[in-house]
Amino acid sequence: MVTQRPGAVRCLMNGARRRVGMACSIIGRPAIRCSRGARQQSAQPGGALPLAFTKSSSKVFLPNMPTITFHLNGAPVEFETDERTLLVDALRTTLGQTGTHVGCDTSQCGACTVLVDGHAVKSCAMLAVQAAEREVTTIEGLARDGAMHPIQEAFIECHGLQCGFCTPGMIMTAACLLGTTPAPTEAEIVHALEGNLCRCTGYVNIISAIRLAATRLQAAQGAPR
Ligand code: FES
Ligand code: FES
Repeated sequence: MVTQRPGAVRCLMNGARRRVGMACSIIGRPAIRCSRGARQQSAQPGGALPLAFTKSSSKVFLPNMPTITFHLNGAPVEFETDERTLLVDALRTTLGQTGTHVGCDTSQCGACTVLVDGHAVKSCAMLAVQAAEREVTTIEGLARDGAMHPIQEAFIECHGLQCGFCTPGMIMTAACLLGTTPAPTEAEIVHALEGNLCRCTGYVNIISAIRLAATRLQAAQGAPR
């Protein structure tokens, strides 16, 4: 950011004008006034974190990136990341779990839904550091020994997808629902899916797929082992 007029700075990344001390949408922390091209610090609890901005470059240097550990699809992972990194970006970029999609990036479409400790979470609305020491499950973690999960099979059989972009999020939301409600009513399925948008299939077949998966999972649980 560079000073535009007394009390205001303009962000070099998106050009937005902001009052001094107002949180930047990119940086996420209040900025303090700086002279053009000068070094700037961003206030944060527990002390200032040095950030370097130049007029000609929007490069931001972030020393001391935290190391995060969590379980991903049953296996421990450990990586360094900027503390502002979204969980979806860490999953896709750092950890290569590209089955988790990004549709809107604003917490509306549900394409990025994953399970965190069994709860359906929109991973574009959660920081990677918030997943520390938790159990994260993505669409890649549902299959077992090369066999698809019953929910995945039901989506195929019921034609619960067309382009497939929303499908990982739909399936992870369904997995969360069936984990807590083994025999959901149609109304309960519709309610569970209210945060997941599909732009091409429509919801009838998706609901049918979840009902079929529920029936099969219940039958499997009742079957003798
Ligand atoms: S990408 Fe996360 S809700 Fe749309
Ligand atoms: S199958 Fe295309 S958006 Fe849902």
